Amino acid sequence: MAPPLVCVRDYEEEARRLLPLNALVYYQSGALDEVTLQENKDAMNRWYIRPRLLRDLSQRSTSTTILGHTVSAPIGVAPTAMQRMASTDGECASARAAARFGTVFTMSTISTSSIEEVAQQAPSSLRFFQLFIYKDRELTAKLVRRAEAAGFSALVLTVDGSSLGIRRGDERTKFTLPSHLKIANFLANDMSSSMNTSAGGSDLIEYMKSLSDLSLNWGDVAWLKRLTKLPIVLKGILTAEDALLGLEAGAAAIWVSNHGARQVDGVPPTIEALPEIVKAVDGRCEVYVDGGFSSGTHIFTALALGAQMVFLGRPLLWGLTCEGEEGAYNILNILQQELDSTMALSGCATVKDITRDMVIRKEYYSRL
Ligand SMILES: Cc1cc2nc3c(=O)[nH]c(=O)nc-3n(C[C@H](O)[C@H](O)[C@H](O)COP(=O)(O)O)c2cc1C
Repeated sequence: MAPPLVCVRDYEEEARRLLPLNALVYYQSGALDEVTLQENKDAMNRWYIRPRLLRDLSQRSTSTTILGHTVSAPIGVAPTAMQRMASTDGECASARAAARFGTVFTMSTISTSSIEEVAQQAPSSLRFFQLFIYKDRELTAKLVRRAEAAGFSALVLTVDGSSLGIRRGDERTKFTLPSHLKIANFLANDMSSSMNTSAGGSDLIEYMKSLSDLSLNWGDVAWLKRLTKLPIVLKGILTAEDALLGLEAGAAAIWVSNHGARQVDGVPPTIEALPEIVKAVDGRCEVYVDGGFSSGTHIFTALALGAQMVFLGRPLLWGLTCEGEEGAYNILNILQQELDSTMALSGCATVKDITRDMVIRKEYYSRL
């Protein structure tokens, strides 16, 4: 009998065996030379934890809040496109898993289940909708209205996606969405039918190019703010300067992300970008982070550096691939247990106890 999958790495290895090449390459790829992709992981090991001992840890909780909603752990589901390539009911399965676990599910615009399907399949879930502002503002506004009507609690505006990064893997496989799937949030005449039939090249890249708007600017965030009463989270921020502009534009939260290293190669890993943004924002809004998180100690480090919430992209895809909804749930559960164990062994009864002085750069020890 195969040994059980007990950590994110186990799920990743198993998913690599199971996924068809087209989907695997799409899920795993980063931009260009994938330097940042590797750095997102390596940078986690540049921080050490300074455990505090002999504190009463008999009562512990990983629970926290995000935009006023209570969640069972500071671990959420990041938006990743086209989840039905990983499991039959894709986004519906991950939304159900997140609901069962008690955390937020962020749904990608480029999903293979529709906004309404996800709301129907996971009615009790806390759901955020990830939005791109498209050239066609009416198409964008329609998506916002549908997310509002379907009970989504926030809009996650992706600000690092106004054009698509160059992913060589997808160019080599000529990535296409398998023909039995569709980009479910769009009506046929909006786009999706053309995606499966366009000859040669990567359909997705061609499609995204046609919708994307390189003229996007801070004025468009103001436009979105006028359009909706939902809180707006800005996803893809990597500098203090943009975090401050985001605050000025009325963002309810700043989501530090380099899009899983899929956009600009050579940008900093997110765990390195986080502290300057936390400092700039200075408690005026919540700060989230994603990118390369695969263990409870990574999550502990991000919380110590000031993140309110850590989001996971690929790990959920590996979970979905291996065991569908159960796998997605297991990934969240494993990470919560690892976080809880790190807390228990480092003197933290609650996430509020994970303070800045509990992590330190590796270099500190060589300077002593
Ligand atoms: C396969 C894949 C698809 C993605 N699709 C989207 C998307 O549609 N919208 C978006 O804002 N971010 C998207 N992202 C970025 C994720 O939301 C997140 O920032 C990233 O995956 C975090 O890094 P991690 O995969 O190392 O956890 C995608 C990432 C991956 C890996």
